[in-house]
Amino acid sequence: MILSIESSCDDSSIAITEIETKKLIYHKKISQELQHSMYGGVVPELAARLHAEALPKILEECKEYFPKLKAIAVTNAPGLSVTLMEGVTMAKALSLALDLPLIAVNHLKGHIYSLFIEKEEIFPCTILLVSGGHTQIIEAKNHENMRLLATTLDDSFGESFDKVSKMMNLGYPGGPIVQEKGLKGDENRFDFPVPLRQSPNIEFSYSGLKNAVRMQIEKLEENGLTEQDICDIAASFEKSAVAHIMQKIKKLFKTKSAKNFAIVGGASANIRLRTAIEELCKQKGMKLYLSELKYCSDNAAMIGRVAVEQYKRADFTTIDDIDVKTRIKEF
Ligand code: KG4
Ligand code: ZN
Repeated sequence: MILSIESSCDDSSIAITEIETKKLIYHKKISQELQHSMYGGVVPELAARLHAEALPKILEECKEYFPKLKAIAVTNAPGLSVTLMEGVTMAKALSLALDLPLIAVNHLKGHIYSLFIEKEEIFPCTILLVSGGHTQIIEAKNHENMRLLATTLDDSFGESFDKVSKMMNLGYPGGPIVQEKGLKGDENRFDFPVPLRQSPNIEFSYSGLKNAVRMQIEKLEENGLTEQDICDIAASFEKSAVAHIMQKIKKLFKTKSAKNFAIVGGASANIRLRTAIEELCKQKGMKLYLSELKYCSDNAAMIGRVAVEQYKRADFTTIDDIDVKTRIKEF
């Protein structure tokens, strides 16, 4: 069995995965959303302190599995350095105390493997990863051959929802709240721009759309923002945010066909995005894979699933070599 730890942002999570069967034996996650909500976003130092409280509590529940463990896995990149450090420090201590090898896991690969929790892998697969930190398209040929096809020039898809939510004091995380408000709104009331519409490149950008939304909110605030205004802003923003992704994916499919397509990451819970991609895949005769909703946001089960494959090919690191990285350039 492998014990895996995730602490790259605001979720403290530990999982135990059986190596041979890939079965998830134990999984727990303590989310900090409530504590960050009043600040409209994740406060790194507060997040680190909460991880320091939550992770040992979860670990206490895993003690019975310690004699069966073969390795300790931990997310070491990308993420917030102070929060990653909490998980990595715990992993180092466990590796030393239990005399077990250490596996450093790429968090983004974790999101991809959220598709494969207690399942076999699907390769080759083209994957849209939409989270609070990333908006990427990845081509995964096999476990070790993954290539980044597109990324964002500035904000990510999920982050833009968080920021729009903050502008209207709706709370954090913004994705579910903005989506909910949008369901009651008129998507055609405001004509927000679809980013990079004219650009031939397959890349993303959300800062221009975010600023257009900010300007509209400021204008409306002169007479007081009504509940209907909020819902209409949410719906109109979401329409452009999703249209941007769809335009780029359609462009990609013109040059690169894919048999299997998948959406992963916390923001893949977005209904409008899921529906639009479902329709496109149906049209193109492509098979669409979605991670189960409970594994869309950050969790240690997905880290454990990556770790199983790394264990099989003896992809280990050491206490001295493992480092924390806020960004990574490739898979
Ligand atoms: O993957 P995740 O849990 O954390 C990161 O690795 O970033 O993703 C969290 C992000 C947040 O930005 C949140 O607002 C967004 O996913 N999100 C959504 C929805 N649910 C969560 N964004 C849009 N629509 C949603 N329904
Ligand atoms: Zn994530």
